[in-house]
Amino acid sequence: MGNRGIDYFLLVYVHQPVLIHMPAILVHTIGKSILFGEHAVVYGQPAIAIPITNLRTRVTLTPDLKAQTPTYHYDAPDIGMQGTLDDLPHDHILVEALRVFRESFSIKSIPSFKLHVSSSIPVAAGLGSSASISVGIVRAIAQHLGLKLPVERINTLAYQLEKLHHGNPSGIDNTVISYEKPLYYIRDQAPQFLEPGEPFHFLLINSAIHSLTSQVVDEVRRAWEATPIPFNALFHDIGALTAQARQAITKGNQVMLGQLMTENHHLLQKMGVSLPSLDDIVTLCNDNGALGAKLCGAGKGGNVIALVKADTIPSLLQTLQSAGWTETYQTSISKK
Ligand code: PMV
Repeated sequence: MGNRGIDYFLLVYVHQPVLIHMPAILVHTIGKSILFGEHAVVYGQPAIAIPITNLRTRVTLTPDLKAQTPTYHYDAPDIGMQGTLDDLPHDHILVEALRVFRESFSIKSIPSFKLHVSSSIPVAAGLGSSASISVGIVRAIAQHLGLKLPVERINTLAYQLEKLHHGNPSGIDNTVISYEKPLYYIRDQAPQFLEPGEPFHFLLINSAIHSLTSQVVDEVRRAWEATPIPFNALFHDIGALTAQARQAITKGNQVMLGQLMTENHHLLQKMGVSLPSLDDIVTLCNDNGALGAKLCGAGKGGNVIALVKADTIPSLLQTLQSAGWTETYQTSISKK
């Protein structure tokens, strides 16, 4: 889980100077990609998500022993957000996190701290930046309070924070980031972990078009409300593909998994969440050695995920670069 302490020392004067050891809490969390079933998962269909372990959020919590009254300071330089609780918007993640901890554990006062958040996960790109911050903040505050929480509990607390930003999240993002394992997920059920029969390698290509998950989820909901029959059929077909994809992963069937990914992309196109740029990237990947590709996450921007054989990665990267798609990431899943 990547937690370790940084040593801070505080000199306290009682009758004579006493050195108190106050470790700062350092938490790392990962990114994620949805491999199958985005949007349909909100409506009860299964989805598959995988961790991206080389994209990371780092949360540092430093106890503030000098504060006379409970004081909480937030610093996220990547997004230019900084201030104490009074300066932050009332729906800020830190405000919500403190409320969730007070209510869940009947704590009257949480000892003061300073929180520093930084991340290499691109924002609004479907790679889990918000869930990664939610899980990181929950882990850090739990440690600060001396609570040894199981991963299930970390996950349910992080889900509370996710609701703040996404309104009606399925819970798949916080779950894959909490457990850091590939999983088959059905809303409101325990995750089922996947054991890939063979290693699978993926390339993620960032369209660099920012997209807000809550907005796209809302658009899909309105379209579903307007025409429920075709949308229910789409969700059902995506669910069926996802069930087949689970078999392909456990059997190590690369060709089948790739084909299913591209089919999933076509269903997402019909749902109205793709964009010409995302379709272009999918086609470029499939024409240049990928076994399959699809948009991942909410769509209307963000990333495409392509299934690739390890030996085709260099040439595909070259082709993508030449076409102007320069921001890419790699991740793999394999038997642990
Ligand atoms: O956060 P994103 O962009 O990866 O999208 C999450 C996946 C959705 O299915 C679109 C929403 C959800 O809550 O599952």
